[in-house]
Amino acid sequence: MSVAHKVALVTGAAQGIGRGLSEILLKHGAKVLLTDVNQAAGDKTLAELTAKYDQSRVAFVQCDITKQEQLETAFATAKSQLGGIDIVVNNAGIGDEGDRWENTVDVNLKGTVKATKMAIDNLRKDRGGKGGVIVNMASMAGLNPNPCGPVYCATKAAIIMFSQCWGMNPDVTGNGVRINILAPAFVDTDLVKQQLQKGKDVIRPDIAAMMVERVGIMPVEQVAEALLELVTDESKHNAVLKISASTGKSYQ
Ligand SMILES: NC(=O)c1ccc[n+]([C@@H]2O[C@H](COP(=O)([O-])OP(=O)(O)OC[C@H]3O[C@@H](n4cnc5c(N)ncnc54)[C@H](O)[C@@H]3O)[C@@H](O)[C@H]2O)c1
Repeated sequence: MSVAHKVALVTGAAQGIGRGLSEILLKHGAKVLLTDVNQAAGDKTLAELTAKYDQSRVAFVQCDITKQEQLETAFATAKSQLGGIDIVVNNAGIGDEGDRWENTVDVNLKGTVKATKMAIDNLRKDRGGKGGVIVNMASMAGLNPNPCGPVYCATKAAIIMFSQCWGMNPDVTGNGVRINILAPAFVDTDLVKQQLQKGKDVIRPDIAAMMVERVGIMPVEQVAEALLELVTDESKHNAVLKISASTGKSYQ
């Protein structure tokens, strides 16, 4: 499947991996609705991307994925402003393990559930959609336990199970919708930097640092290439694509 002229909605797109995923889709000719809870960062990223790409192909709307009505507005904007919806990348996520650990469940799990259900409803051919593909952002931390982020790991494991359960549903497969899961190891973004530098949100930042040392850290662009594979390769459905600096790409 070529992404040229397709419309993608990406959550958490203002920075980090989400921005990289948005940019690779733009490079390959897609139209992209960037969405993020952070309005200022979203405005800045939009300005930078419109300077590089045709401004009719990229837009930004503020959207906190924990808020149903903001998700509804984002999906409606993709249709009204960019002409439809073919690709949904549920990327937004956080890693609070301290007093605010419940935010991690709210964003990573509950937010991804809300956004996935909305994506399925919008893509299903029997509900007026054109079919398409959803990619949910899990993590290697959702497959391999580690002592640094128990809540984070639990939410990412749950995203994999939730996504694969939907992927087995004949209402989805029978209506032209593919669901895939991306599971990266460490990627060079603020999420990782904050945890290693401040150590405030991980339980054992010293072990996290040792793990980064051992596994390595990838540039965002490497993860973006993996996303493109999950989107364009129509044989991929219910696939979990693992990617790490040390071992490269492999399917679970
Ligand atoms: N960086 C890594 O090593 C790594 C590895 C595996 C998976 N991931 C996952 O990749 C995704 C992106 O992480 P990143 O490393 O780019 O982090 P990041 O902190 O650089 O970017 C996350 C983005 O999500 C946005 N966001 C946070 N809460 C939101 C909400 N409620 N609604 C909408 N947007 C929200 C932030 O504003 C930010 O722009 C996350 O799901 C993360 O768990 C990251």
